Amino acid sequence: MITVTNARKNYGNFAALDDVSIDIPSGELTALLGPSGSGKSTLLRAIAGLESLDDGVVVIAGKDVTRVAPQKRDIGFVFQHYAAFKHMTVRDNVAFGLKIRKRPKAEIAERVDELLGIVGLDGFQHRYPAQLSGGQRQRMALARALAVDPQVLLLDEPFGALDAKVRADLRTWLRRLHEEVHVTTVLVTHDQEEALDVADRIAVMNKGRIEQIGTPEDVYDRPANEFVMSFLGDVAKLNGHMVRPHDIRVGRDPGMALAAHEGTAESAGVTRATVDRVVHLGFQVRVEMRNAATGDLFSAQVTRGDAEALRLSEGETVYARATRIPALPGGLVPVEISSVASADAAEPAVKAETAATAETAESAETAETAETAATAETAATAETETFETAETVETAETAETAGAAPKDVAAGNESGARTTG
Ligand SMILES: Nc1ncnc2c1ncn2[C@@H]1O[C@H](COP(=O)(O)OP(=O)(O)OP(=O)(O)O)[C@@H](O)[C@H]1O
Ligand SMILES: [Mg+2]
Repeated sequence: MITVTNARKNYGNFAALDDVSIDIPSGELTALLGPSGSGKSTLLRAIAGLESLDDGVVVIAGKDVTRVAPQKRDIGFVFQHYAAFKHMTVRDNVAFGLKIRKRPKAEIAERVDELLGIVGLDGFQHRYPAQLSGGQRQRMALARALAVDPQVLLLDEPFGALDAKVRADLRTWLRRLHEEVHVTTVLVTHDQEEALDVADRIAVMNKGRIEQIGTPEDVYDRPANEFVMSFLGDVAKLNGHMVRPHDIRVGRDPGMALAAHEGTAESAGVTRATVDRVVHLGFQVRVEMRNAATGDLFSAQVTRGDAEALRLSEGETVYARATRIPALPGGLVPVEISSVASADAAEPAVKAETAATAETAESAETAETAETAATAETAATAETETFETAETVETAETAETAGAAPKDVAAGNESGARTTG
């Protein structure tokens, strides 16, 4: 178990961590999810010991490590831009931590082969990093982090720079790996789908604070507030409520939007709307509609089959109804259809949450990642005499990464803007 209590970290008068407390259960995979600049990396680095806290306590496995050096915290760390030793083969890269710990050669060879098997890089032992794909390099990075049997694995956007398909494959793979080795893992991501996909628990961060911690179902279906609701997925605003677009039922007459036992159209809050646009997204269809009473735009997500059955097309009158309305603090009580007509039409129909921000932040992150990578490596090797050489090599490598990476980082940090309304 990792416990962070009342953590604070200020940069000037900016609070990167503003009184953060979190329990991370042993053996679980916890995701830190939030927009760019919300403090995810700062929190992860505080757990690693790469960032000193202004206030607060970090406890790992019952031991207060707040003032303990990173190399004594028994952690493995993987960054968004993994800086491999380019002049070393895959085998040597993975063996690195074991070598500097002066483990017997036979043991190292056996462990490295085992790890390369686990990460699916059997047969790649003698390749150099430049001869690997991005995804293979990240898996090599994970093997290297796992080589020394850390009690905690910290992953800061390890797949951030890869394309969507490879990311999806790697996270499936990470999930399986985690089920196999069960090392306590903290994964930083700003990708809500990634977090929902792989994590046992998700901590949603915003502006240096944790907004909610819970299972994927908790944060998606029972969001603690509007921020969590918007950040975890698409949101539509219907009659003053924030609802998920797939929780809006669409029909061709007021009764069609209702199940038989759900009362009358009036009591169930059925909204008359005009179809503005029908967008086919593979299996799903997004129906963009205009609320007839308020003029607000909102979207529903229906299956292709439903869209075909309803023969939805532009300009047609339909009826829509939210089948599930999450209870949000300060949220409105369900409104009767009669009162909808007088609702404030000026209210924005779209609640969009965009994660990525200024470019400066992105390049800052690049520099920071490179720098931290060097520090982590230092941390891993600090106890040995080979430390100096290792540090020099690693710094050189990461400096190169820092020079080459801004574009990738920008791409990696791009958010999927959720703008359904
Ligand atoms: N060394 C630093 N000096 C000043 N400000 C910093 C420093 N490191 C981080 N910050 C600021 O602290 C805030 C949190 O940064 P952090 O790196 O934790 O964000 P993040 O959630 O990891 O974002 P991203 O998704 O972009 O990586 C940001 O606003 C950042 O600009
Ligand atoms: Mg970060």
